[in-house]
Amino acid sequence: MLPAEKYNPVTKETNQPEMRSNSKRTIQDANETLNALLDAAVDGLVVIDEKGRVELFNSAAQKMFMYSSKEVLGNNIKMLMPASFSREHDGYLAAYLSSGQAKIIGRGRKVRGKKSDGEEFPIFLSVGEVKGASHKQFVGIIRDISEQERDRIEAQESRERLSHASRLSSMGELAAGIAHEMNQPLSAISSYAQASKRLLLAGNNEARVIDALDKICDQAIRASEVIKRLRTFVKERVAQRDVVDLNALIIETVNLAKVDTRLLDHQVNVELSQPSQPQLLADPVQIQQVLLNLIRNGIDAMEHIKGAPLRIQCKWLSNETIEVSVIDCGHGMDEEVSQSVFTPFKTTKESGMGMGLPVSQSIIHAHGGRIYFGPNQPSGCIFSFSLPATIIS
Ligand SMILES: Nc1ncnc2c1ncn2[C@@H]1O[C@H](COP(=O)(O)OP(=O)(O)OP(=O)(O)O)[C@@H](O)[C@H]1O
Ligand SMILES: [Mg+2]
Repeated sequence: MLPAEKYNPVTKETNQPEMRSNSKRTIQDANETLNALLDAAVDGLVVIDEKGRVELFNSAAQKMFMYSSKEVLGNNIKMLMPASFSREHDGYLAAYLSSGQAKIIGRGRKVRGKKSDGEEFPIFLSVGEVKGASHKQFVGIIRDISEQERDRIEAQESRERLSHASRLSSMGELAAGIAHEMNQPLSAISSYAQASKRLLLAGNNEARVIDALDKICDQAIRASEVIKRLRTFVKERVAQRDVVDLNALIIETVNLAKVDTRLLDHQVNVELSQPSQPQLLADPVQIQQVLLNLIRNGIDAMEHIKGAPLRIQCKWLSNETIEVSVIDCGHGMDEEVSQSVFTPFKTTKESGMGMGLPVSQSIIHAHGGRIYFGPNQPSGCIFSFSLPATIIS
């Protein structure tokens, strides 16, 4: 890599010969120190004039963008940006110079840089105006954040894989319930079809046959809705953010949970947040997965208490935070278990994986929320999560 072109910001001189040579030395020393500092900086430093022409390009910036300073100095800074950013750049600069309105100046933000070989990479750029300079100058401090971005994407991918594996495992456990749920509409369809045949053979029963055919259609729709719900839930997918009506999502999840036949032994009371309905920016399948995990844990804890109710409550904690709680009156938790409920693979169940709560926690945290629990009175547990939300007007 070539050394940085020498930067000479301190140039004021005096008229007296002796003082001039002293002050020249001082200026030279100051410039050398400054250049050494600029080259020692870990972050890339770029100084531009009001036209966007590069006046300084330190060693870290040369390394990051794979250009020598000679190749960059005097050229427009846009050569270091991908086309999408470079188009906007002149506009930013002109708007700032004419109106003083800063879009990026004075703050930092994530943008993309372009290396000499054309490769784009993510950078964090903070720009400041150099006050007191002889002409308008702006300094950009640039940090290469490729590694953080890679880590973030990897973490998100592994969270998605884990979350998918956990959904598949939930479905595996619910297999018996799914079979039951599908069996009901199928046997109803079969008996209505047989009845229709009998009625047709007997003749003159048109109205009753039409009625039976309507019932067959209803049952077929019911079966296909169960399948649709399950398929959406287990599909491998990239996490996404949608506008979600939380009350509707809770009802949908309770319907999904109903494929678990053990739920038939319990009353499920749902208390939605009325009249102000919560709206979230969330991944609906993942939030559904969290709620389903909590419901299944609640039912597990009440396994031997037939008829015990499970309450699902949705309430506002503030104007911008909604809380969903799953309240059971099961066996509760002792101190030791409660210490490690969010630790992966910690389970007290014979067929449990110990993944339900850790996965739920990572989903809720990724949505900027919290998940927590406490005892219910006189027995059982209350598991809750809170999320940022807005009121549907
Ligand atoms: N509502 C609850 N009441 C009592 N204990 C609970 C409750 N919810 C969770 N636990 C305890 O926390 C442990 C961890 O729960 P988690 O959901 O992570 O895993 P799991 O239910 O054991 O297995 P799975 O991976 O199938 O969900 C459970 O094994 C149980 O001991
Ligand atoms: Mg569980």
